[in-house]
Amino acid sequence: MIDDLQPTPDDRFTFGLWTVGNRGRDPFGHETRPPLDPVDAVRTLSTLGAYGVSLHDDDLVSPGSSAAERDAIVARFRAALAETGMQVPMATTNLFSHPVFKDGAFTANDPRVRRHALRKTLDAIDLGAELGATVYVMWGGREGVECDAAKDVPAALDCYAEAVNACCAYIVERGYGMEIALEPKPNEPRGNLFLPTVGHALAFIHELEYPDMVGLNPELAHETMSGLSFHHAVAQALWSDKLLHIDLNGQVPSKYDQDFRFGAEGIRDAFYLVKLLEDAEWDGMRHFDAHAYRTEDIEGVWDFARGCMRTYLILRDKAARFTEDPDIKEALAVAKVDQLGLPTLPETGDDRFERLRKETVDVDALAAVGYGHERLDQLVTELLLGAR
Ligand code: GCO
Ligand code: MN
Ligand code: MN
Repeated sequence: MIDDLQPTPDDRFTFGLWTVGNRGRDPFGHETRPPLDPVDAVRTLSTLGAYGVSLHDDDLVSPGSSAAERDAIVARFRAALAETGMQVPMATTNLFSHPVFKDGAFTANDPRVRRHALRKTLDAIDLGAELGATVYVMWGGREGVECDAAKDVPAALDCYAEAVNACCAYIVERGYGMEIALEPKPNEPRGNLFLPTVGHALAFIHELEYPDMVGLNPELAHETMSGLSFHHAVAQALWSDKLLHIDLNGQVPSKYDQDFRFGAEGIRDAFYLVKLLEDAEWDGMRHFDAHAYRTEDIEGVWDFARGCMRTYLILRDKAARFTEDPDIKEALAVAKVDQLGLPTLPETGDDRFERLRKETVDVDALAAVGYGHERLDQLVTELLLGAR
């Protein structure tokens, strides 16, 4: 048994206000839980050991609030942060709930909608800066289409890029030390969304005016919905030095957007993900973007929050055991894992290709070597199942 599964702020666990605040509404049924006051979310998450919360503008300040109401809400919220020591490392904008965004926000065909979306985003960036956020997430919930005849996709991508460029310029102009993290998703709520995967988003970043200010907020559920490995996607984001933030949850491939508790599904990919983040000593937030099952009352919501953090800590412990386990070490050597770190072409000089050509190798002998993946994989299974 692992001795210490009590999360602390050092573990850098954060939750969206909309996650613990999720009221259990789905396309077929009404809310099953009452609203949760953001101040109560901050207080309870703090007692559970979280580091902070993230938020959409509307999660905190209800749309339609006057300037004075906004300031009072923000002041009350900041008092709760000060009282608990909780942080707000990430902020974002709700550009999907209001019907005005039904044809998109930054990629809506009507420029008046696009300008409204940009205004709302600049306000949310101000709010984030006021709360100390250093990452601004852009999830294009309505940036997509069902009727392909109605959308010129390259033109929509131009508009998307224009909006990201404008937000970067605004952040620079205001002197906010903030970076923008794009969050890819393949579909839901639109039939198809733009920037559907981590790969698409990485390519998009290189077409922007401030590519150094823009990175990624990959989500486990989103890559999994595409049938892709989340751990591979995050590895490539890290390799590109573009992992700014992360959304952790649970998801079965090819199902609706489930947003289950971290580890509720896909425990193997979750393990490799945790191992990847920990091995890389990634210093970002371990952010949960998930919600409790619709069956739950508020106690179930806190069980959900505890479960997300506890599973992360268990997997972190498993990752440490993986590194220390002598049988796993031996199996890794058989699989030649460390040899991938050797350069393929260490030779230098003009004759390096000739030297490469002159080298002889017994191809048949190499081809006959086994890599021991069956044993290694089974050892991982046994580690995860607690059998070692
Ligand atoms: C979803 C998304 C959102 C975003 C959030 C922050 O599938 O609904 O994951 O939860 O992460 O809007 O941008
Ligand atoms: Mn999601
Ligand atoms: Mn998300």
